[in-house]
Amino acid sequence: MSDKTPLNIGMIGYGFMGRAHSNAYCKVGNFFDTKYQPVLKAACARSQESVQAFADNWGYETIETDWRALLERDDIDAVDICVPNNLHREIALAAADAGKMILCEKPLAMDTAEGEEMCQAVEAAGVANMVWYNYRRVPAVSLAKQLIDEGRLGKIFHYRSVFLQDWTISEDLPQGGEALWRLDVDAAGSGVTGDLLAHCIDTAIWLNGGISTVSAMTETFIKERTHQLTGEVQKVGIDDACAFLARFENGSLATFESTRYARGHKALYTLEINGEHASISWDLHDLHRLSYFDHRDDSLVRGWRSIHVTDGDMPYMDKWWVPGLQIGYEHTFVHQVADFLESLETGEPASPTFRDALETQKICDAVLDSAQSGQWTEI
Ligand SMILES: NC(=O)c1ccc[n+]([C@@H]2O[C@H](COP(=O)([O-])OP(=O)(O)OC[C@H]3O[C@@H](n4cnc5c(N)ncnc54)[C@H](O)[C@@H]3O)[C@@H](O)[C@H]2O)c1
Repeated sequence: MSDKTPLNIGMIGYGFMGRAHSNAYCKVGNFFDTKYQPVLKAACARSQESVQAFADNWGYETIETDWRALLERDDIDAVDICVPNNLHREIALAAADAGKMILCEKPLAMDTAEGEEMCQAVEAAGVANMVWYNYRRVPAVSLAKQLIDEGRLGKIFHYRSVFLQDWTISEDLPQGGEALWRLDVDAAGSGVTGDLLAHCIDTAIWLNGGISTVSAMTETFIKERTHQLTGEVQKVGIDDACAFLARFENGSLATFESTRYARGHKALYTLEINGEHASISWDLHDLHRLSYFDHRDDSLVRGWRSIHVTDGDMPYMDKWWVPGLQIGYEHTFVHQVADFLESLETGEPASPTFRDALETQKICDAVLDSAQSGQWTEI
């Protein structure tokens, strides 16, 4: 019998993230020595049959088909919001009102105004809260943060990041409904900006501090698509591609680019940072490696080194296998749950909180405003 304190999870949504998070709740207690142990108490989605199948697969004890009923239950401690973006606000406000802890998927909200309302709600209710910007918890990215914070790069001049995909190039692809809600602006809020660049921005401000001003351009390459739910041909309201320039508060310059029209790329998330003494770069396709160049090395052996982030003194890696054996994408969610559970013990909030994630929301809004106005936009 475990002497851990149970933390009863109510999961809303059983799609991509519902699965990724369920896996993390199942695994975390086996690898991390935390006081709290997630218990898969209830899964919720609209279709009884589908949510039952999901619950059976992952071991959820019960199901609900209305998230309001989930929030009314006394046996739920924490609510996990894994539904399309247009539902985050309403569920989060109600969950805060019901006194539940909230783990919310990114982007926090449809826009900054919604996000601010959500921050105020969790702060007024005093409930623990966190947003799933999981790439912070890739050990190589966490190591990058450590190297930057130790001052190894010196003054930072440049930050460069892209997130490229190619899955919406076909004109025949409908928009809206299950699986394609990301193409429907009413469900997603924006296109690649809130979906993909939000990740790049969150990582960037975590690694390199605040962004002060942006200048952006966006494009919607396919202007009309059939809506999957109504069958009507409707204007496409999302940005298919977005590129922007940014200035950080520390004086460094940045370029960000994201598109779903980069043929050949499925999820190419890369970042590179150039400092006075050293540079680092990272690539999601090789996520267990961090590239590092240090100009202070002896010139005869100076060059880019590829650090295999698997040793026990590297972030999170003492919890996994032995040096030389790598971990992958799903572990980033395990790390985030572990940090959340630890935060309940220490009382120190796990980042990014709703308030932290609001910063990314503000930058996304500024990017979209700038693309529309053609002007530089202050954050
Ligand atoms: N952190 C990441 O890397 C990452 C990756 C993918 C998605 N996301 C975010 O996670 C969220 C969900 O995305 P996804 O890819 O899992 O989507 P998905 O389409 O795979 O799943 C969405 C789920 O929401 C459910 N749902 C929709 N309306 C509902 C309602 N009214 N009540 C209950 N359930 C409802 C659907 O049935 C489905 O189970 C989005 O906010 C998205 O931006 C984050």
